[in-house]
Amino acid sequence: MVSNGTVEKQAPGAAPGQLEAAFGRPLALASLSIHADDYTNTHPAVAPPMHVSTTFRYPRNPDELVPWSEADPDDFESFYIYSREKSPTSTRYEAILTSLLGGPAISYASGLAAFHAMMVFLNPRRVAIGGGYHGCHGILRILHKLNGLETVELEDDAALARLRPGDVIHVETPLNPTGEARDLEFYRRRADELGCWLTVDATFAPPPLLEPFRWGADIVMHSGTKYFGGHSDMLSGVLAVNPRWAASRTVPGQGKKEDEGGAEESKLTWVQQLREERLLLGGVMGSLEGWLGVRSLRTLELRVQRQSQNAQRLVRWLADEQARGEGVVAELVHRVQHASLQPEAADEGSWLARQMPNGHGPVFALWLATEQLARRLPSKLRLFHHATSLGGVESLVEWRAMSDSTVDRRLIRVSVGVEAWEDLRDDLLQGFQALKEDAGDR
Ligand SMILES: Cc1ncc(COP(=O)(O)O)c(C=O)c1O
Repeated sequence: MVSNGTVEKQAPGAAPGQLEAAFGRPLALASLSIHADDYTNTHPAVAPPMHVSTTFRYPRNPDELVPWSEADPDDFESFYIYSREKSPTSTRYEAILTSLLGGPAISYASGLAAFHAMMVFLNPRRVAIGGGYHGCHGILRILHKLNGLETVELEDDAALARLRPGDVIHVETPLNPTGEARDLEFYRRRADELGCWLTVDATFAPPPLLEPFRWGADIVMHSGTKYFGGHSDMLSGVLAVNPRWAASRTVPGQGKKEDEGGAEESKLTWVQQLREERLLLGGVMGSLEGWLGVRSLRTLELRVQRQSQNAQRLVRWLADEQARGEGVVAELVHRVQHASLQPEAADEGSWLARQMPNGHGPVFALWLATEQLARRLPSKLRLFHHATSLGGVESLVEWRAMSDSTVDRRLIRVSVGVEAWEDLRDDLLQGFQALKEDAGDR
C-alpha cells in the first residue's frame, strides 16, 4: 500500500461479497469480469499494475515479523513472501476467476501443470478418462510410471465399475478435437454410486457456456491458455474447487488408506493444501501471464459469445451444404462434428440443452474425403491461420495429425475466432474450391 493519505482513501474497492450486498443480488458475469478484483487495488491507477518482483520486503518492525510456518493460512492475500508461492498479479487473476467460475481458483503455469497438480492432490489409484486432449493421457502415463496409477475407459460402463472410493472420473467436455459435449449429470451419478471424485476439464466451454459446479464437478480445470488468455499469447492453467470442498480438511487419496482406516485430516483446507503443493511443485504462472490474463478476462464473455455464435453458424452452414448433397462442400467434406449436431441439441429438455443453455463451444472438427485434402486445405485459406491451440480471437485450423498422432489423418480441427462469420464462411468456401481445382489439375 502506498502510504499517501489520498491513495489510501481511494483504494481498495469492494470485494464480490460486498458488491452483492450493495446490489442486493449477484452481479452478472460481464460486470464481475471487470470488477471482481477491485478489492485488490492498492493504487488509484485504473489499469492494474504488473508486479514482476520475485521477492517481497518483510515488515521493518521486528515485532511484526511472523515466520512463514506460523503465518495464518487464511490471510492468503496480504502476506507476500516469494513469487513461487504467489504474486500480486496472479492473485488478481485468481480473484476474477474465483468469481467467474463460482469456486476458489488457483492458477498454474499451464493447463497440463494444473491437471498434474489436480492428480497429485486427489492421488487416486485409478482414473476413468475418455478421448480428448492427449496431453492429459501423457500425465497419467507418467503417474503410472511413478506409482502404478491405472486408467479405465470412461465411456465403457463396465470398465467404470472397476473404480473404487477415492478414484477419479475425469470428464473433458466439450471434447478436444471434435467439440462434442458429455453429460455431466450422468457422470455425477456414477461418481456418487462409486464414491469417486468428478473432475471436469471445461477448457472448451468457458463461462458463460458451462457451469460445471452446477452439474456436480468437485474440481474444474481449464487450460487458461485458450479462452481465458484469448489472444494466443500466454500459457496458463486453472483449477477451481467446488465451494462444498473449499474448506474441507480431508486429505484425498483415501483409496490408498482403505487398509489403514480411512481418510486423514489436514490442518489445511483443500484450497490451502493445493496452494502448498503448488509452492512445492513450482508450477506457478509468470507475472506477465497473470497481467495478460487479467486484461483478457475483462472481455471473456464478449469474446466467447461471439466465438460460440460464429461456430454455430459455420457448423450449420457446413451441415446444410452436406445435406444438400451437391456442391464443393458435399464433395470434399465427409463429416462435421460439434455439440450443436448431437441429437440432444435439438431437444429442449435434453441434458445438453440444460447444461449448455448459452451456446456450444467454439471448436469443431471436419473430416475431409482424403488425408491429402486435409493436409492441403490450410494452405488455401486466407483468414484461418494454420496453427495448433485454440481459443484466441483469430480463427485457426489445424491438420490435426501435425500435433496429435492418435487422430484420423483426415481430420481438421477448427477454432473459431471473433471475425465476421460470413467472411470465415467465404474463406472456407474459396479454400474448398481451390482444393478442388488443384485436384482437377493433377
Ligand atoms: C482440453 C485441454 N485440456 C488441457 C490442455 C493443456 O493445456 P496447456 O497447453 O495450457 O498446458 C489442452 C491444450 O490444448 C486442452 O485442449
